[in-house]
Amino acid sequence: PMYFDDDASLSHLDGKTVAVIGYGNQGHAQAQNLRDSGIEVIVGNRDDEYADASREAGFETLPIADAAKQADVVLLLIPDEVQPDVVREQIAPGLAADDVLVVASGYNWHFGEFAVPEGVDVVMVAPRMIGAAVRSRFESRVGYPCFVSAERDASGSAFDVALAVARGIGATAGGAIASSAREEAALDLFTEQAIWPAIFNVLRASYDVLTEAGFSDEAILYEMYLSGEPAEVFDRVARDGVFEQMKLHSRTSQFGQLGGIPRFAEISGEATELMRSVLNDDILSGEFAKKWSRANSGDADVLPDMLDEAGSGDLPKAEQRVRSRARDML
Ligand code: NAI
Repeated sequence: PMYFDDDASLSHLDGKTVAVIGYGNQGHAQAQNLRDSGIEVIVGNRDDEYADASREAGFETLPIADAAKQADVVLLLIPDEVQPDVVREQIAPGLAADDVLVVASGYNWHFGEFAVPEGVDVVMVAPRMIGAAVRSRFESRVGYPCFVSAERDASGSAFDVALAVARGIGATAGGAIASSAREEAALDLFTEQAIWPAIFNVLRASYDVLTEAGFSDEAILYEMYLSGEPAEVFDRVARDGVFEQMKLHSRTSQFGQLGGIPRFAEISGEATELMRSVLNDDILSGEFAKKWSRANSGDADVLPDMLDEAGSGDLPKAEQRVRSRARDML
């Protein structure tokens, strides 16, 4: 179901102090939206340039532990990777029964990366939008997609508070979507671990076949994506739908695309099996979360080596060559 302004009452935040922890991408937008909705907002931030920005915007800005202690409702808007330590050391100690912790992504809560004291409600209000759009859409009252859920309802009113926060940040103007930390985290991870890797492999296979035919790197790569055309197509897909936008393409293109769909159904059978395994065996089982947490426990960053390896294939190398020759066109 979806929840609109009429379903959400700001009164659940009456007399409450809301602490926005982190004044970054989401934090600066959500703090300002809540304040403009008439809610009492303080900011908790470590001493860095984000704290300066928060002070400049007129927010009372405190160390994280002090803000968490002082507030009744705490929005956790710092990067996911640092949340477990910061919650354990600076936020959880300041939370008491009847307080509410609001997360903007489901991963850490769902996979048990941090804990909060008993009696504290935990809710999710997760915009599907970058912070700048969270702010600009609030100002123009158009709303934006946002997942909401009550993850731990000790008070009996956790979901009401989640909806009040969603309304305060402007999300219910367009309709907030009922979800869960499990669903939000799994969808996010699935897109990252199945959809994009599948797309990358389709591009790689296409590059190999087209190179075998003797076509040039420049021509292939501009056609495939360097021109930015796929980004425009995806933009139309989001606005008009997969098949509706197809009508904007030439008749030859439509005939070819529609004819190709049943032909490639064969690979989608195999892909379905792999995707099921990614979802069930890696993501929902918690295996990926364990693997990622192990990878992060060492001193060395694992990503540079993985990126080097992925970037050493024929397609990434061709892309580097083309890019270095054609800077001005990109
Ligand atoms: P961000 O990267 O913009 O966060 C910066 C803030 O975190 C600053 O206030 C900084 O002082 C603080 N910070 C950074 N490292 C810290 C540390 N070690 N200790 C204490 N504070 C630290 O974060 P962003 O992107 O706004 O994400 C916040 C939450 O919102 C995350 O849970 C994320 O998954 C979620 N989210 C983000 C979206 C986005 O568009 N970026 C969209 C929807 C949800």
